[in-house]
Amino acid sequence: MLKSFKSITLFATGIAVSLSMSAPATAAPEPTWRSDIAPIVAKCDACHGASAPEYNDWMQLDGAKRKTVAPRMDTYPHFMSYVVWPATGAMMRRLDDGSSAGGKPGNMYQYLGGTDEERAKNLKTIKAWLGEGAWNLNRFKAKGDVPGINKEQLEKIKAKY
Ligand code: HEC
Repeated sequence: MLKSFKSITLFATGIAVSLSMSAPATAAPEPTWRSDIAPIVAKCDACHGASAPEYNDWMQLDGAKRKTVAPRMDTYPHFMSYVVWPATGAMMRRLDDGSSAGGKPGNMYQYLGGTDEERAKNLKTIKAWLGEGAWNLNRFKAKGDVPGINKEQLEKIKAKY
């Protein structure tokens, strides 16, 4: 009895040691919505904050109104609805600096910061948070020559809360 207890303890200690050894000592913590992204998206609050209409209500507005009113995107689930669904890729199309969108930055890129440097830094943070290979501008369905998003692309999304 005592012997098996001892060996279990030894076994558990062994697991703990190997777990702690396998974690790279210098790895930067993974970016999260709460610590890294929410503070950036706060820059959008003046137009996209808690009092802005829900996406689905916004979609019901007529075309002219939809150009001047902004849909809500101040929480994690709101934000993700412009990444995944229903507004698949809208976040990437609007925030792109032009490098994925044929040279022309998306019209919301300007709000990522007051200087080129700050905008570039914030975009880099958002891209890293979404995950490598997750910055895709595709819509849910194909449009013209651009195919709809596929499952492999969606699987790249990390976007830790
Ligand atoms: C000065 C007001 C204003 C600010 C600040 C602003 N936006 Fe917008 N945004 C709008 C308006 C108005 C629209 C709707 C008109 C349009 O489509 O361009 C819009 C549309 C969008 C859309 C498209 C939604 C869709 O489904 O088509 C996205 C994505 C977006 N904004 C992201 C952002 C992000 C992220 C920020 C902050 C970095 C931001 N915006 C800052 C006013 C603003």
